[in-house]
Amino acid sequence: MLKLGVLVSGRGSNLQALINGIEEGKIDASIELVLSDNPEAFALERCRKHGLEHGVVRRKDFSTKKEFEEELAIKLKEKGVELVVLAGFMRILSGNFLRHFPDRVINIHPSLIPAFQGLHAQRQAVEFGVKFSGCTVHIVDESVDGGPVIVQAVVPLLPEDTEDTLSQRILGYEHRILPQAVQWFAEGRVNIKGRLVEVREARYGTLPVNPELEKF
Ligand code: GRF
Repeated sequence: MLKLGVLVSGRGSNLQALINGIEEGKIDASIELVLSDNPEAFALERCRKHGLEHGVVRRKDFSTKKEFEEELAIKLKEKGVELVVLAGFMRILSGNFLRHFPDRVINIHPSLIPAFQGLHAQRQAVEFGVKFSGCTVHIVDESVDGGPVIVQAVVPLLPEDTEDTLSQRILGYEHRILPQAVQWFAEGRVNIKGRLVEVREARYGTLPVNPELEKF
């Protein structure tokens, strides 16, 4: 059973997708700890509802980013966390944090990176006028939304789309590719060689999700 730690800042719908996947027996993992930097995050409500261990670590309670990140890492390590999932965590983690979990911190981002990195990725896509955007699960490195790609899903933009409608359509795929990526880690099938990530025995098809999803 892969031990997960999940970092959140807000609504927590991606956290919910992981909870559902675990409760439905599709993900061979357990959520050992959820940490939020925001005490008001709705994600914490979801933790209470599902009996998940959770805590709040606020940046403003530490004088340096280093100390804040150390506290996050200590708490996750105390729980034996093996894979850290950033699920709407609105802070950039430095190497000080990442060195505690080498190649074992993943993030979900609502664009096809390297397009539209950073905040408001869906708004950036609408304003740019692209015909396709999507979402990405990637390994977190010291860049902002730029680490090695594990899986991407392509989502079309329609002429009438707004930031909101596009965000909703992308979110539907976020809730599928994130649990799938976690399950690939749980199955020990993710090989990372520099920038290149190989999911062993994954199929690559003509559907705009590569690698193809298997369980979600
Ligand atoms: C998602 O769009 C995710 O891709 C981005 O932040 C948002 C978090 O949503 N990183 P939620 O908190 O999981 O509902």
